[in-house]
Amino acid sequence: MLEELARTGRDPATNGYLRDAWSPPELELREWFAGEAARRGLDLREDRNGNLWAWWGDPAREPGVVTGSHLDSVRQGGAYDGPLGVVSAFAALDVLKNRDFRPNRPLGVACFTDEEGARFGVPCVGSRLLTGMLTPERALTLKDDEGDTLADVLTKAGRDPRGLGRDDETLAQVATFVELHVEQGKGLVRLDRPVGVAQAIWPHGRWRFDFHGRADHAGTTRLPDRDDPMLPFARLVLAARDAASRRDIVATIGKVRVSPNNANAVPGLVSAWLDARGPDETDVRALVEELRPLAAGAVSEESWTPVVDFDHGLRERLAAVVGGDKPAPILPTGAGHDAGILAAAGVPSAMLFVRNPTGVSHSPEEHAEQADCQAGVVALASVLEELCR
Ligand code: GLV
Ligand code: MN
Ligand code: MN
Ligand code: MN
Repeated sequence: MLEELARTGRDPATNGYLRDAWSPPELELREWFAGEAARRGLDLREDRNGNLWAWWGDPAREPGVVTGSHLDSVRQGGAYDGPLGVVSAFAALDVLKNRDFRPNRPLGVACFTDEEGARFGVPCVGSRLLTGMLTPERALTLKDDEGDTLADVLTKAGRDPRGLGRDDETLAQVATFVELHVEQGKGLVRLDRPVGVAQAIWPHGRWRFDFHGRADHAGTTRLPDRDDPMLPFARLVLAARDAASRRDIVATIGKVRVSPNNANAVPGLVSAWLDARGPDETDVRALVEELRPLAAGAVSEESWTPVVDFDHGLRERLAAVVGGDKPAPILPTGAGHDAGILAAAGVPSAMLFVRNPTGVSHSPEEHAEQADCQAGVVALASVLEELCR
């Protein structure tokens, strides 16, 4: 299945993936999801927020155990972040069917929409809308780089944007959620284990810093006469690195918009997105406050995700099921996931990580060996079996 997906949305120049939410490649992946559901005789549903659910059994009668992930990618992303969890979910169901296992409760495969937030800037849009962590009012007005709003994009994709919003009915169908994910670090490599269980997700957020200046001619404007927003922006980049390193947390400026973006003009506006994360919310918040004055107060919080400490009982239980006589390692992560959003909303949730030999993610270098992917599927199948007994 991963090989089949590998063709969709790949940029041949870099081998990275471009799978923005609701873009043609992502729509193609959603079709693929529907096909895999149909092939297995699962009932397919798209909820009001564009998340996909494929059910074995009827969750309207009794809440079920759900596994899955997402199919969108960061720009120039890898092949595993997201798809590995969806593919492993279908493969784990196949393992259970081959074992003649009959689940005692409904079992579902989920694909959350716009997990990465590559297009509109806010991550986990599908699960945030579902749980009410993002309001439809705000979501609908989010704009992509072309200036199209999420409402425009949904309408173009044949969806009704008026349906967006907290969906208690769908949420009530999820008794437990388990997301399998490629590890985005080298924890499992260091421990020499193929599969691990998530302990916690660091609190994290995104902030947009707007630096206003005055666009002007690059040849005729004397330096003292310029109001160049690129200078305070450059100070921000260095200050963010310094502030993060003093607190032993991480801060990244990976997205910048320069306007009007002419080689021969002083810019009029520079917008920079700061992503900051760390084990302790206080440090992350303090970093943002330290940096805020650099943009003369023009700072907006684009998203915030509180710390997620996954259900202790569930993670221990999963570690025991996955590891056999030697419980699987339980690891923290700095990456955000839909499982974290569901956990924050009170749904008992857990994650499995599959070893990534490069440790690299959000990049074409991201990798998982075939044998480890198989170990992940077997682990996930055992977990589902345990939870559906
Ligand atoms: C998503 O993968 C994130 O952690 O930013
Ligand atoms: Mn990701
Ligand atoms: Mn992911
Ligand atoms: Mn993520």
